[in-house]
Amino acid sequence: MTFEHKPVMLDECIDYLNIRTDGVYLDATLGGAGHSSEILKRLGPEGLLIGIDQDQNAIQAAGQRLKKVQTKGRYVLYHTNFENIREVIGMQKLKAVDGVLMDLGVSSHQLDEGERGFSYQQDAPLDMRMNKSEERDAAWVVNNLSREDLTRIIREYGEEKWASRIAEFIVKNREIQKITTTGQLADIIKAAIPAAARRKGPHPAKRTFQAIRIEVNRELEVLERTLKEVVGLLNPGGRLVVITFHSLEDRIVKQAFRDRSQGCVCPGDFPQCVCGRTPEIRVITKKPVTASQSELDENPRSRSAKLRVAEKL
Ligand SMILES: C[S@@+](CC[C@H](N)C(=O)[O-])C[C@H]1O[C@@H](n2cnc3c(N)ncnc32)[C@H](O)[C@@H]1O
Repeated sequence: MTFEHKPVMLDECIDYLNIRTDGVYLDATLGGAGHSSEILKRLGPEGLLIGIDQDQNAIQAAGQRLKKVQTKGRYVLYHTNFENIREVIGMQKLKAVDGVLMDLGVSSHQLDEGERGFSYQQDAPLDMRMNKSEERDAAWVVNNLSREDLTRIIREYGEEKWASRIAEFIVKNREIQKITTTGQLADIIKAAIPAAARRKGPHPAKRTFQAIRIEVNRELEVLERTLKEVVGLLNPGGRLVVITFHSLEDRIVKQAFRDRSQGCVCPGDFPQCVCGRTPEIRVITKKPVTASQSELDENPRSRSAKLRVAEKL
């Protein structure tokens, strides 16, 4: 299987991870192992790479790629959601690791594999599950959620101003015929957005497809929960490197970093601290890092990428 996915901000990720040859590094979004193979190259016999992906195809492709890396380092791969990061680290008989990388969202491979149903550019079953063993796919979401829920999801996760019209059109159409393909959904979205609004900006289905994908894979909820957990799973000096691809994700990362880097949160007029909170991390990137001009020219996917880094105290 070929897995064409250009790793985003590869050099930056490797630099920020501060890789030690004897360290343990966890790549929570293995994909095609673009980042992981560079991590593995830098490890010695005492070093370990732990890779996680919820997509079985990614695990297979990454396994094939990592097998070819010239290294003394070891690696283990887990097919699971990164929300299970604590269990995964525990399975290695470890309590913490020296670095965690999260390169969020879908891989180019998932988008290119038409039959996965992520892309509005290819007609395919409406699936969008990163993990094929999950029950709810995109067709289930589109055919079963209420008009109110669909409006909320499309508005919040897609930042789509025509959300309520799109939801209305979905509900009307599904009463006539079940919506089972990406082509059907894309046509319904197009019909819902007035022609003048459709002429500007990206493909009219882009935002709604993003929203449905986020809902199907519970992306924001899982990210929020995992960020809360991950800080406690880093050794002192260990780094958390996160790349996001849209503003909702970036906001969650920024907020989590802010919360965990803050000390006392008692009101200013308290004579002394009663909350007892101390900072757990130091934020390394005050502003998100974006891709260099040469990467932007070469890899359009890097355009929306934002990288943030924190270090465990
Ligand atoms: C952008 S790609 C990563 C690409 C990888 N860094 C590379 O260079 O090849 C994101 C990957 O993370 C996986 N993924 C996304 N959310 C996940 C989650 N909650 N748990 C596990 N894997 C996840 C996706 O299946 C996808 O393969």
